[in-house]
Amino acid sequence: MKPKILITRAIFPDIIERLQVEVELETNQEDVLYDAAEMGRRLADKDGVLVVGSSIGAEALAQAKCLRVVANMAVGYNNLDIDAMTRAGILATNTPDVLNETTADFGWALMMAAARRITESEHWLRAGRWQNWGYDLFAGTDLHGSTLGIVGMGRIGQAIARRALGFNMRVIYCNRTRVAPEIERELNATWVDKDSLMKQADHVMLVVPYSPATHHLIGAAEIALMKPTATLTNIARGGVVDEIPLIAALREHRIAAAGLDVFEGEPRFKQDFLALSNVVLTPHIASASLPTRRGMANLAVDNLLAGLGLGPRAGDPPNPINPEVLEQGRA
Ligand code: 8YV
Repeated sequence: MKPKILITRAIFPDIIERLQVEVELETNQEDVLYDAAEMGRRLADKDGVLVVGSSIGAEALAQAKCLRVVANMAVGYNNLDIDAMTRAGILATNTPDVLNETTADFGWALMMAAARRITESEHWLRAGRWQNWGYDLFAGTDLHGSTLGIVGMGRIGQAIARRALGFNMRVIYCNRTRVAPEIERELNATWVDKDSLMKQADHVMLVVPYSPATHHLIGAAEIALMKPTATLTNIARGGVVDEIPLIAALREHRIAAAGLDVFEGEPRFKQDFLALSNVVLTPHIASASLPTRRGMANLAVDNLLAGLGLGPRAGDPPNPINPEVLEQGRA
């Protein structure tokens, strides 16, 4: 008998075709948003789930009595209750690496848009307000030759640092652990503590995974250390930043600008941001190039099939988050 799989949201049709060969599928191409109770009902008879833009917490898991594999189509997994999955012997997987370069490109796009006031000036132009050239018309801050401060020097952080070499930037970073000396040398990056980074950076880029340890990692105290000409870009998770002091700092021009792709409680976000012209706002699209989203979907399927004991990597999924489940032979 084929294993039963739920895909939680709409996905590329060819991903459905690929999975249909091996499993019995319940899809959601209508893209209905399931609450926890509905997710639980739908997981009740499933062996595996492909998680697309959804959360799976303890309430839904309580009903998922035969679930063996949860394949997340994302590198971050704060949308999954990993502890509850591990306790229940359910394998969880994610999609690292395939999105590094696309996400780094977008981090740069957002940082440059904030520093060079691109969306702000476009809104102004579209509103028909362009009458004349002015010496300081939308004058922003430079990227080239400046200091880039990267908070979180994982794979995406490193891809962002690599791009800074072409802009002749000094790169400083903070991370729980220092990266290998050869990587520091290659990226011309210096490990500093968080406060030094916030003080010295002309542009701060947040790329840390979200966890209780990084909740509001950047709060009022950290923002107060920033230069008035500095920018803050967040492509990590909204909860990494305390948004209330950030809004105040932007409003009072205590920092120059921000670029935000993620928000605490998204897709809802603080409406106060809308009144600020010095913030660039995007709807969590850092990994959203079509080739990368397709790559993420295919990697999630590789993980799902392998976790279910199917396909060329049966029993050996490429990206387990809780490999102890595999070691215990429960998945
Ligand atoms: C996803 C992301 O698109 O991979 C991640 O962690 O933030 C994005 O690439 C998003 O999480 C899907 O919900």
